[in-house]
Amino acid sequence: MQQLIDAFERKFYYLRLSITDVCNFRCTYCLPNGYQPHGSPRSFLSLDEIRRVTRAFAQLGTEKVRLTGGEPSLRRDFTEIIAAVRENTAIRTLAVTTNGYRLARDVANWQAAGLTDINVSVDSLDARQFHAITGQDKFRQVMAGIDAAFSVGYRKVKVNTVLMREANLHQLPQFLDWIKSRPIQLRFIELMQTGQGEALFHQQHVSGALLRQQLLQQGWQQGTRSRSDGPAQVFSHPDYQGEIGLIMPYEKDFCASCNRLRVSAVGDLHLCLFGEQGLTLRDLLADDSQLEQLKMRIYSSLQAKKQTHFLHQGNSGITQNLSFIGG
Ligand code: GTP
Ligand code: 5AD
Ligand code: SF4
Repeated sequence: MQQLIDAFERKFYYLRLSITDVCNFRCTYCLPNGYQPHGSPRSFLSLDEIRRVTRAFAQLGTEKVRLTGGEPSLRRDFTEIIAAVRENTAIRTLAVTTNGYRLARDVANWQAAGLTDINVSVDSLDARQFHAITGQDKFRQVMAGIDAAFSVGYRKVKVNTVLMREANLHQLPQFLDWIKSRPIQLRFIELMQTGQGEALFHQQHVSGALLRQQLLQQGWQQGTRSRSDGPAQVFSHPDYQGEIGLIMPYEKDFCASCNRLRVSAVGDLHLCLFGEQGLTLRDLLADDSQLEQLKMRIYSSLQAKKQTHFLHQGNSGITQNLSFIGG
């Protein structure tokens, strides 16, 4: 088996696969005006195409797949997609990043189909502020979803909170209280600049280093990462059942440990969240017989992966918002 490795000797064990651009939330930092369908309607990857693309990655050493969007669970065939990806026994971790809208209703089916891990976005623990940030009055529904995930047997749930100077920077005590006796890994994500999010970025971006300092002072200790983990620096504390994660893409050397590739909902391979135009894989997803060619294309494209993103120069590449490529 070939292992995916780039010119900087980084190995890729983790695929982030977007399965739809559509989202029903309107997060201020992502889709403030809601999802706008593209000019010419494009169809998202079919179940068979998803089966083929994940098979190719699995044969290239991928051991973890994350389904993203948009909101991935808006796909009617979401449960079938989970089962199709899990046909690859090499993929030991199959995760989803969701806004939590469908969790309470569907999480038992997802688990039965083989979903191993769940990340849910929750930017505020205050129902009114949650509504203001996401455009949806669904705080209670999302909380009920997290509870449902625990009750069907997930041992840990990860929660994503985008760190914003005015909205939630000062709410660390409430967040800590929330995870004191819950096995939640709460991750604060530094707000990233996107093509559409420039003004908000300048208003609200703060470095996670502030939080890291507070955590270390309060006795939190940083853990280690394994090879298919995402970018979070994870902290734990003997008095807390939950953990804190910090995702700090603006920190020096963030990209040195990059272990992930992305495929968009229309089948384009993206070597970086903030890269340039993707490279289509779709012409090689039509038939099982194209598997070797597909693997070859993925492997050779990877050699063009750059050492780092250009966010420090305010350059977000083609990334207008994170919904089209799944964050
Ligand atoms: P785990 O694998 O469970 O740790 O999750 P993850 O952090 O990899 O996935 P999730 O979808 O929860 O992503 C959390 C945040 O990290 C999102 O805002 C992503 O956009 C961001 N993120 C993940 N990978 C990268 C990356 O390579 N570059 C940048 N800039 N951000 C990333
Ligand atoms: N900056 C940081 N995180 C973002 N997300 C979406 N847009 C941004 C941004 N501009 C996060 C969401 C979700 C994850 C997939 O990406 O909150 O948790
Ligand atoms: Fe939808 Fe996620 Fe973007 Fe919010 S961050 S609008 S939930 S895609």
